[in-house]
Amino acid sequence: MQDYKYMDRLMQRGREFLNVRYPIICGAMTWVSDPKLVATVCNNGAFACLAGGNTPPEILKAQISELRTLTDKSFAVNLITIAPAYQEHIALLKSLDNPVPYIVFAGSIPKEKEIAAIKETGAKVICFASTISIAERMIRSGADALVLEGAEAGGHIGHVSTTVLIQQLLFRFGDTLPIFVAGGVATGKLTAHLLLCGAAGIQMGTRFVMTEECQAHPRFKDYFAKANARDAMSTAQFDPKLPVVSVRVIRNHGTQEFTKLQLELVKKVAEGTTTRQEAQLELERFWVGSLRKAVVDGDVEYGSVMAGQSVGLMDKITSVNDVIQEIMSDGEKELQKMKNFFAE
Ligand SMILES: Cc1cc2nc3c(=O)[nH]c(=O)nc-3n(C[C@H](O)[C@H](O)[C@H](O)COP(=O)(O)O)c2cc1C
Repeated sequence: MQDYKYMDRLMQRGREFLNVRYPIICGAMTWVSDPKLVATVCNNGAFACLAGGNTPPEILKAQISELRTLTDKSFAVNLITIAPAYQEHIALLKSLDNPVPYIVFAGSIPKEKEIAAIKETGAKVICFASTISIAERMIRSGADALVLEGAEAGGHIGHVSTTVLIQQLLFRFGDTLPIFVAGGVATGKLTAHLLLCGAAGIQMGTRFVMTEECQAHPRFKDYFAKANARDAMSTAQFDPKLPVVSVRVIRNHGTQEFTKLQLELVKKVAEGTTTRQEAQLELERFWVGSLRKAVVDGDVEYGSVMAGQSVGLMDKITSVNDVIQEIMSDGEKELQKMKNFFAE
C-alpha cells in the first residue's frame, strides 16, 4: 500500500469517522451514483454515497442489497428531504435488518426527529451546510459530520462560495465535528491545503463523473470534457413568491426550458391556479427527469447536464483508482514542498 505520510496524518480524523483508508467522498449524484460506482470508489479505499433520494423505495432497497454484494466497505445512502418518497425512505432505512452505516441528508433542512430516527438505526448522520445558520442548526439537531458545500458545486447549490464557507464555518466548527469540503474541489494540491485548514476530508461529484467506472452516457462525459468553468452556470429565481433552489448546470436548451417553466409557474402561482408547493414540486420533477435524459439517454442538448465549475479543470476520463491516487500523491507532494520550504 502506498505511503502518504503527511496526507495520512492530516486525514486521520476523516479516516476514522468514515472508517476508510482515504476520506475522499464521491458525493451522491442522482442517476450517476449507482451501486457499481459507489462500490468501485469504496473498494479503492475511498467513500461514496448511493444516490437514493429520487429513487422509488423498492428500487432503493434492491440497490442497497446489490451494493452489499459488491462491497463490504462502509458507504452512505443519500436522502433528499424535498423528494416525494422521503418519508418512505426513512421508513425503509429504519426497517432494514442490516442498517446502512451512514446517511447523508440533502435537499432542504432535515427535522431533528428525522435525524434522531436515522441515528436510532445506528447510522452516522452527515448533513450539508451551505450557510453558517444551516451549519449551526444541523449541529444542534445532532449531525455527526457536515459537508460544507460552496456554490461552485454541481447540482442543487447554495449561494455562498467555498472560500467564504471555509472561513465562516470550517474555521469555526472544524474542531467541533468532522467537516468535509465540497464545491470546486478537484485536485490533490487543493486537498492538501483544505486539510491544513482543518477539513476532515473532501467531497467531489464532478470529478467522479469523469471516470471509466461511472455509467453516465459517453455524450454526458464528452460535454463535461469540452466545457469551460464559466459554462457551468447557476439558475436564477425570478420571483420571491416562488422560491427555488439554484442548480449549477451546463448551459444548453434544457436550461432555457427550465427558465420557461419557472416563468409559467410564477404566473400560475400569482393567478392562484397552482400552489407554491405544487409549483416547487413540478420544478424538482423537471430536474430529475431532465437529468435522466442527459445522464441515461445522452441527450445533452435538452437534458440537464449538472456540473460544478471544476468541470473546466478536466478533459480526460480516468479510472476511479487513478483519481484517488492522484489526489493523494499530488497532495503529498504539496505537503512535502511546504515542509521543505519551512525547513530551510
Ligand atoms: C450530476 C450531479 C448530480 C448530483 N445529484 C446530487 C444528489 O442527488 N444528491 C446530493 O446530495 N448531491 C448531488 N450532487 C452534488 C454532489 O453530491 C457533490 O456534493 C457536488 O458535486 C460537489 O461539488 P463538485 O461538483 O464541485 O465536485 C450532484 C452533483 C452532480 C454533478
